[in-house]
Amino acid sequence: MVVVMMLAYIAAGLGLSVLILRLLSARIRKYASGAVCRSTVRLDGKVALITGANTGIGKETAVDLASRGARVILACRDVEKGEEAAIEISTRVGGAQVEVRELDLADTCSIRAFAQRFLREVDHLHILINNAGVMMCPYMKTVDGFEMQIGVNHLGHFLLTNLLIGLIKRSAPARIVVVSSFAHNFGWIRLHDLHSQGSYNSGLAYCQSKLANVLFTRELARRLRGSNVTVNSVHPGTVQSKLVRHSTFMSLLFALFPMFLKTPKEGAQTSIYCATLEELQSISGQHFSDCAPAFVAPQGRSEETARKLWDLSCELLGIEWD
Ligand SMILES: NC(=O)c1ccc[n+]([C@@H]2O[C@H](COP(=O)([O-])OP(=O)(O)OC[C@H]3O[C@@H](n4cnc5c(N)ncnc54)[C@H](OP(=O)(O)O)[C@@H]3O)[C@@H](O)[C@H]2O)c1
Repeated sequence: MVVVMMLAYIAAGLGLSVLILRLLSARIRKYASGAVCRSTVRLDGKVALITGANTGIGKETAVDLASRGARVILACRDVEKGEEAAIEISTRVGGAQVEVRELDLADTCSIRAFAQRFLREVDHLHILINNAGVMMCPYMKTVDGFEMQIGVNHLGHFLLTNLLIGLIKRSAPARIVVVSSFAHNFGWIRLHDLHSQGSYNSGLAYCQSKLANVLFTRELARRLRGSNVTVNSVHPGTVQSKLVRHSTFMSLLFALFPMFLKTPKEGAQTSIYCATLEELQSISGQHFSDCAPAFVAPQGRSEETARKLWDLSCELLGIEWD
């Protein structure tokens, strides 16, 4: 009897919660949608490169930059998906200049081949958006033996930026936007075991990779001082996208509570803000969320960790950075 009554209370509680959420969903949606980039800047004659632009936040960033007149290059690991996105962007934006190039950030040979061709065929690069990402995948390695999340989210973009930085500097004023996450707050850089070989937790590995994005941004900004190239990191918000595909728990949460999530277009606003806003022309090394400066966790402000991670990244990739 007691058990039946408890179950009835639980069912009633759940029902009431669902009802309240439904009644408030319009208000919650409005709040969750976040800030909108108000910049009206045109980008005619500018070249923008966006990684992982065939879907989610990257695709919506591409739509916006194309609508401002930029030539937008979608760097995608699956060219077919990239072409489908390019067709969609051209349908949504009349006169869009959009093209697709193959880039697999989990393979340094692919990154080098991409950069070689890019440098041969494209004269300028004004906006680089390091957007692609993988989250909470089971333990996997990139072609070069890096743990997948640190490999794609940090090391792949580190190498790509290194290979393109000369062109970006020659194209100045130019901007780099690094799509990080609020998750950086829960991250820790395991310099002694960057690839989580000792123990692997998919959530912590994601947080580490997003913290690496923040530290990379700060160290790169320091090295780019006086070059008229800025670099800032962003947290896009919690966005309805395919990012959670590897986590059943996160997929369930996203399916149950869509009203708390931003759409990809809403999630793209802070990347667009950092890439276009005139007032940010000389702002570098900062972190943004909802089109405003955002809190950076203490471990994301450590210059020492930023430099150590930088040196380790160069060592792992076999590169030097002047
Ligand atoms: N969604 C959120 O709530 C959220 C929150 C905070 C931060 N972020 C960050 O926002 C960024 C964009 O995520 P999203 O939400 O738009 O996710 P998404 O829809 O899953 O898009 C991720 C993109 O990255 C690409 N990608 C994955 N691995 C790659 C590789 N090895 N080489 C090249 N491209 C690769 C994917 O390509 P495929 O389509 O071929 O897989 C896809 O285009 C990520 O950096 C993510 O960490 C997202």
